[in-house]
Amino acid sequence: MNIWRSRRLLKLYCAICCAIVLSLTVFHRSYNVSPEPTGAPVRLDRAPRVQNRGISQFRDYALKQVVGRRSKSLGVMVSGRDRGGKGVAKQWDVLTNNCHPNHNITRANWFNDLDAKFKEYVLYRHCRYFPMILNHPKKCVGDVYLLIVVKSIITQYHRREVIRQTWGKEMEIDGKRIKTLFLLGTSSNVNERSHYQKLLEYEDRLYGDILQWDFTDSFFNLTLKEVNFLKWFSTYCHRVQHIFKGDDDVFVSTENILEYLKGPGIPNLFVGDTLHKARPIRKKDNKYYVPLALYNKTFYPSYVGGAGFVTNQALARKLYQASETLELYPIDDVFLGMCLEVLGVSPISHSGFKTFGIVRNKNSKMNSDPCLYKHMLVVHKLLTAELLEMWAAIHSNLTCSLKLPRTFI
Ligand SMILES: *[C@@H]1O[C@H](CO)[C@@H](O)[C@H](O)[C@H]1NC(C)=O
Ligand SMILES: *[C@@H]1O[C@H](CO)[C@@H](O)[C@H](O)[C@H]1NC(C)=O
Ligand SMILES: *[C@@H]1O[C@H](CO)[C@@H](O)[C@H](O)[C@H]1NC(C)=O
Ligand SMILES: *[C@@H]1O[C@H](CO)[C@@H](O)[C@H](O)[C@H]1NC(C)=O
Repeated sequence: MNIWRSRRLLKLYCAICCAIVLSLTVFHRSYNVSPEPTGAPVRLDRAPRVQNRGISQFRDYALKQVVGRRSKSLGVMVSGRDRGGKGVAKQWDVLTNNCHPNHNITRANWFNDLDAKFKEYVLYRHCRYFPMILNHPKKCVGDVYLLIVVKSIITQYHRREVIRQTWGKEMEIDGKRIKTLFLLGTSSNVNERSHYQKLLEYEDRLYGDILQWDFTDSFFNLTLKEVNFLKWFSTYCHRVQHIFKGDDDVFVSTENILEYLKGPGIPNLFVGDTLHKARPIRKKDNKYYVPLALYNKTFYPSYVGGAGFVTNQALARKLYQASETLELYPIDDVFLGMCLEVLGVSPISHSGFKTFGIVRNKNSKMNSDPCLYKHMLVVHKLLTAELLEMWAAIHSNLTCSLKLPRTFI
């Protein structure tokens, strides 16, 4: 009885929250007369139909706004069909979702031996590019020194919020502009999808920093985030010099990254926590397990932990082209390693990237010492509260001994 009661209350509560958010949104839209900041959201698809009348009224209103803005950009979109150099369109040119399972593959003997989740992966493996639900074509307009891109999922709202306040803060330092984007797919929870979508759209209207594609966010689909981003970057970002790409649960020292980038320019820059001769994991219960049917070599090519790495404009474009020559691979950072291998580029290892966590002296108290973090570029992985605390600590008047013991770096 009590459970039903509290469920009903919860539903009521959700409905009220939703209504508040929606009315705020409408309010925000109607009264936001100032021109949209660069990177205003442009919806390119039709959102899922929602039953609730209040919501659909809002939707009609929102659609009118979007259509108004969209028809302006349509002219550009048409001319965008003339492809620019090297086969890169001027606008996102995937407008419909044609992702159907490839049943041909079920006839192969090896298919039947796969676990269910690999079966699903293989059935949809050929689907590579997806329509965009939220886009910011103007995000990279002008010179951008560092573009920070963060892999995130709809429900990790708090992480995005904290990143915006800390290492992902958009700013300009010594004339170097820093811009931030979050990369998302759609919610994997189908029942809650339209609800989360509304909240995400509201968030994006406030911050203008979300790129969303119409594919389901899941671990194996992270590679889709990679290739869709590379294509997006090649389409829209001609004057971005460097890219930091990482997870939403890491600590990043933006200052140290800028400091690192001051050094001599490296043409094919790809730096992070590099693994050489890593072996594919063959234990079935491991998150990174890969069956022989998907990868049968003994070693992976050298690759960089996907939790955080730095690359540059020229290499990102080449990676996009290389990625198109390969079949997708379920582990996103390994897939990038394969692309680097195609290009004959060796990733650079840097001890300031601890994307596999701090491995040595795992349980030492020093691992949470701000003085240690002060010397790092990226550390995996922190809770949002820890990140805020660490950020405040290293930006306070911290006195650290000049040298850290070698064992920690
Ligand atoms: C499946 O096989 C048919 C016939 O051989 C072919 O036309 C089709 O393109 C294949 N589908 C995929 C997704 O490869
Ligand atoms: C990846 O996304 C596509 C498109 O939404 C979906 O059909 C597929 O099931 C997803 N794959 C996995 C492994 O989640
Ligand atoms: C390994 O996989 C490749 C491509 O998937 C295939 O061509 C090759 O025959 C496989 N080698 C072995 C020893 O199974
Ligand atoms: C740090 O110390 C300097 C001088 O020692 C002082 O001017 C500054 O306000 C201090 N900053 C903070 C955040 O305490």
